[in-house]
Amino acid sequence: MAEDFDVIVIGAGPGGYVCAIRAAQLGLRVACVEKRETLGGTCLNIGCIPSKALLHSSAVFAHARHGLADHGVVVDGVRLDLARMQARKAEVVEANTKGIEFLFRKHKITWLRGAGRIAAPNRVEVAGAPHTTRHIVIATGSESSPLFGVAVDERRILSSTGALALDRVPAHLVVIGAGVIGLELGSVWRRLGAEVTVIEYLDRIVPGLDSEVARHFRRALTKQGMRFRLGERVTGTNATDTGVTVSLEPVKGGAAETLAADTVLLAIGRRPHVEGLGLDAVGVALDERGRVRTDAGFATSVPGIYAIGDAIAGPMLAHKAEEEGVALAELLTGRAGHVNYTAIPGVIYTAPEVASLGETEDSLKAAGVAYNVGKFPFTANGRARAMGETEGFVKLVADKATDRLLGAHIIGAEAGTLIAELVTALEFGASAEDVARTCHAHPSLNEAVKEAALAVDGRALHI
Ligand code: NAI
Repeated sequence: MAEDFDVIVIGAGPGGYVCAIRAAQLGLRVACVEKRETLGGTCLNIGCIPSKALLHSSAVFAHARHGLADHGVVVDGVRLDLARMQARKAEVVEANTKGIEFLFRKHKITWLRGAGRIAAPNRVEVAGAPHTTRHIVIATGSESSPLFGVAVDERRILSSTGALALDRVPAHLVVIGAGVIGLELGSVWRRLGAEVTVIEYLDRIVPGLDSEVARHFRRALTKQGMRFRLGERVTGTNATDTGVTVSLEPVKGGAAETLAADTVLLAIGRRPHVEGLGLDAVGVALDERGRVRTDAGFATSVPGIYAIGDAIAGPMLAHKAEEEGVALAELLTGRAGHVNYTAIPGVIYTAPEVASLGETEDSLKAAGVAYNVGKFPFTANGRARAMGETEGFVKLVADKATDRLLGAHIIGAEAGTLIAELVTALEFGASAEDVARTCHAHPSLNEAVKEAALAVDGRALHI
């Protein structure tokens, strides 16, 4: 008997919906299971997109308050209309999620509404109804990691979901975890007027980021009024109707302390979301961190069942999940799908923006690889000066022997956009000299990338 579908993808986030679209493009009969009322997963509904809407709106507000006078633009009486800002965020989310619905119709992808459970390697049950399929793709994403002693109620103690939905500016927001979510959402509420204290277990912010960039980043955020408590551990929180008491102690030992906050954001990482899928019963193996174990072709331990995105190993990034979704759809149709994990950029959408790619100085030192560094500051870039955006620098690392580009790290305005040419360079196996010999438009921020590439060979022109 023929199956109902060739592929059933469980989860309509960036991994799942992109996998569904690519599979449909390649001629497969595709269904996608989604229990939310809207498509797009965490990213579109309660993650990347709403946070970028609020980051942009709050940056506009901060700029109107503090950044215009220098340009000779005088604006009096700037005020915040938070209800409108939140309504705009909701409109942005709706336009995006509706866009995925349109794409599903266009590609004749069936949306199976409800929670999916894998009943057998070729059968998925959705809201009690069975659907048969040749392949199953687990693309169920991730959820916020909990912390013992910190009970998230989305009122006073928030996950990122609650921190995107506040209807008032907290007087004092305490953020637990100086990672991407803590710093992006901490920035939103700081710009809108909150006191923000970030408590971080390690003695640095954003683990994994090039440590020189991380130090510069911390200084920049401190200048904006964000306070950091590094090397401190939160031992518990006590929420009342009026506020939250946060208990903390130095990781290396020392006196315990309490902080009074009115709102707390818990952002200590995310964990795979695979509960209720029936993986145990069907025999899909997880790794030691609860992620679905997959081989290089995204196959799980059960033939016919595959997994991609935040539910498997690797960085929890929407674009990584998308690449995996495309590669898997191509593999399922006998093509050569492949993801180059060394060329996945990471961007933090604060001001300054931070973008990173590939190896850092720290990782190269640890691996014993000899490298050259080229750095160029935005203070020496004409366009950055004209824009009044001179904070930060571009830093490239290249193999000492071959000059092959190994990593790129940018802190400054538009860093997330500037990194793209270096992703292309890395993908093509370029040397720093290749980037340096590429003509860059003048005047543009991109020239700082070219200058950093020249600096790898000690011959930057404008410094
Ligand atoms: P994260 O892994 O980026 O950072 C968590 C931070 O919390 C780390 O610095 C860690 O050392 C610290 N931490 C852990 N336990 C702690 C404790 N008990 N007390 C104090 N600090 C503690 O995690 P985050 O920010 O929650 O983000 C989750 C995922 O979402 C990440 O993989 C991130 O890449 C992704 N994401 C990406 C975005 C982007 O690409 N712009 C935006 C938001 C999230």
